[in-house]
Amino acid sequence: MDRKKSILITGGAGFIGSHVVRRFVNRYPTYLVVNADKLTYAGNLENLVDVDTAENYVFERLDIQDAASVSDVFSKHNITDVIHLAAESHVDRSIQGPLEFVKTNVLGTVNLLEAARMHWKSESDHVFHHVSTDEVYGSLGPDGFFTEDTPYDPRSPYSASKAASDHFVSAYYHTFQLPVKRSNCSNNYGSHHFPEKLIPLMINNILMERELPVYGAGLNVRDWLWVEDHAAAIDTIFHDGIIGESYNVGGLNEWTNIDLVHKLCDLMDEKLGRTQGHSRALIRFVKDRAGHDQRYAIDARKIEETLGWKPSITFEEGLARTIDWYLTNPEWMKNVTSGEYLAYYDKTYR
Ligand code: NAD
Ligand code: DAU
Repeated sequence: MDRKKSILITGGAGFIGSHVVRRFVNRYPTYLVVNADKLTYAGNLENLVDVDTAENYVFERLDIQDAASVSDVFSKHNITDVIHLAAESHVDRSIQGPLEFVKTNVLGTVNLLEAARMHWKSESDHVFHHVSTDEVYGSLGPDGFFTEDTPYDPRSPYSASKAASDHFVSAYYHTFQLPVKRSNCSNNYGSHHFPEKLIPLMINNILMERELPVYGAGLNVRDWLWVEDHAAAIDTIFHDGIIGESYNVGGLNEWTNIDLVHKLCDLMDEKLGRTQGHSRALIRFVKDRAGHDQRYAIDARKIEETLGWKPSITFEEGLARTIDWYLTNPEWMKNVTSGEYLAYYDKTYR
């Protein structure tokens, strides 16, 4: 078949990446989707069992810290476009050990930019889309929203590494005319979310009747977006966004952590046939995260007004789907928390 594009999706075995890979494999049969992932603790090919025999899908085990291997993958698959999601993504881990965040998020991104610069002969017909975070903008008080013009003010090692990678993407556009696009998204939730992050951690702990650790007073605010709506936004920006521009993506859906944890407790008590209040009794207020950003909130008017994207489902619907997915996939949880997910790679790709 004549391929229209050969798209390298990095981090495709992770939470958001697997939703992006699934969407592109299913919607664009004339594209070859090359999922390149190191398979760290956060990457799990079981996330993609439904597409990994598709004719337009290939997996490459790749560490983006290794420039030579990145260049080899570009040559091997004649890569025309990149959607870059691979990253160390958890703020608490970045506080415990910042170096891996610099190596993967900064050096890894520059390796990909450099490979694109070397392999792409003209700016036409190529896109390098960098998937980034709203955390680069810092922390908000009670009012206001992050816009695309909000100055960068990263405050954790994770957000500093993502801000640095955004700046390199922008620098490659201005200096080398590399055809880049950027998106900065708020907190995602949905299926296949690794249980170190707030929502899947709470769902799993409620299910197991373990303590529910809420940092500080639980009054920090996050703006939650269903992961499949983020994948749809990436699709829209990749195809229709303007080269050199950035787009904020968010759910206009702000929750304090404690209100969200209460909601999860009540929804799960109802689903599990427990008495109301049973799971709330598991909540424990624990030591706050160092440098804990108070509030994130995205102004997503640019992508809504210029590209016509908006969230497709309500938070109630998304949370119900998410809880149902975790309740019906206990094996997934067992495998990712025990390291057993690598057995799938060995069985399928070795
Ligand atoms: P994740 O931790 O679930 O997945 C990251 C993936 O990257 C994993 O599959 C992992 O194996 C892979 N990876 C890590 N280091 C690698 C390396 N050196 N080489 C190749 N692959 C490597 O992360 P996520 O939550 O899916 O986030 C994906 C991207 O979206 C990240 O860039 C993150 O900064 C960004 N983002 C996340 C959110 C969110 O709420 N989760 C919001 C906005 C932006
Ligand atoms: O805003 C986008 C970002 O959202 C992404 O760039 C990051 O990759 C992603 O991890 C996420 O970062 P957060 O730090 O906001 O997500 P996390 O799920 O770790 O925490 C959400 C909130 O819940 C935060 O205020 C800290 C709090 N929290 C978290 C955990 C894990 C708790 O109170 N208890 C917990 O056990």
